[in-house]
Amino acid sequence: MKHLLSLKDLSQSQLLALLDLAVKIKASPAEYRHALDGKSVVMLFEKPSLRTRVSFDIGINKLGGHCVYMDQQNGALGKRESVRDFAGNISQWADAIVARTFSHVTVEDLAEYATVPVINALSDLYHPCQVLADFLTLKEATGSLQGLKLAYIGDGNNVTNSLMLGAAILGAQMTVICPEGHFPDGFAVTQAQQLAAVHGGSLLLTPDVSALEGADAVYTDTWISMGDSTKLSDIAVKFAQYQVSKELMEKYKVKYFMHCLPAHRGVEVTDEVMDGEGSLILQQAQNRMHAQNAVLVTLLS
Ligand code: CP
Ligand code: NVA
Repeated sequence: MKHLLSLKDLSQSQLLALLDLAVKIKASPAEYRHALDGKSVVMLFEKPSLRTRVSFDIGINKLGGHCVYMDQQNGALGKRESVRDFAGNISQWADAIVARTFSHVTVEDLAEYATVPVINALSDLYHPCQVLADFLTLKEATGSLQGLKLAYIGDGNNVTNSLMLGAAILGAQMTVICPEGHFPDGFAVTQAQQLAAVHGGSLLLTPDVSALEGADAVYTDTWISMGDSTKLSDIAVKFAQYQVSKELMEKYKVKYFMHCLPAHRGVEVTDEVMDGEGSLILQQAQNRMHAQNAVLVTLLS
C-alpha cells in the first residue's frame, strides 16, 4: 500500500488490517504516541472541512507527528504552479500528503508526481477515510462485519461510491436507494459489483425505499455535495420520500442511523433521527481520527 486514493486499491486483508489497527490505536493510544516521531504531513484543502481537517491534525499530533495545513489562499493547487511541481516540492520536506480536492484527477496527479504517500481526504469521486471510519463504527455497533446489511439512501455521491466499494471488499450486502437520475457513478458501481462478486457480497441499486427492509443501518448524506450547483428547491420534491425519519426507520425495522456529516437537519434527515438512540454520527466522527491514524501508521512505517 503506497497511497490511499480509493478503497478499490485495497485487498480484503489490507482493509481488515487497517480496521484492526484502528481498533488497537483507539484502545491503546499510548503505544502509538511515537509512531510518527519526526514525521511531517502536509494537508492541502481545496474545499471546507471540519471533521477531516481537525481529526487529521489532532490525530497526527497524538502519533507524535506534525502537520502543515494549506488552504487555497496559500497557493491554489494547479494555479500558481502545476500540481506536478506542488507534489514534487512538498515531497522534499514532508513525509505524506493529505489532499481534499474538487477533482479526483488532482489527487491522482499528486500521487503520480509525489515521492511520498498521498491520502485522499475527499474528492468528487471518493471519500475513503470517511468510509474506513464508518466500517470501524459498524464493527463496534454490530459486533462483527460478517453478514452486514447496509443501506444507503439519498443522492449517489462520493461517499456512496466509497461505501459501495468498502462493502463489496468486505463481502457485505449493500443496498443503494436513490431517486431516478441520482444513482452513483457508473464506473464505481461496476467496480463494486465486480468486487462484491469476488468476495461473496451483493449490491442492489433501486429507487424503491422499501428496499431498506432488514438493513442493520441506514446511511445518508447531503443531497447536494460540495461543488454541485443544484438548487435544493429544484430537487426537494423529488427527494422528499428519501428523507430519513423515525417513521421510516421503524417501518423498515432499521436500528442504526449513519451520516458522514455535515448534515442538513430537516432536509435529508430529521432531528429526531440525528439525536435518536440508534444514531452513530458522533461515533463515526470520533472514529475518523482512529481510522486515519491507522492509515498514517501503515503508510509511514
Ligand atoms: N465528513 C467529513 O468529511 O466532514 P468534513 O467535510 O467536515 O471534513
Ligand atoms: N458528499 C459530501 C460529503 C461531505 C463530507 C460532499 O462531497 O460534499
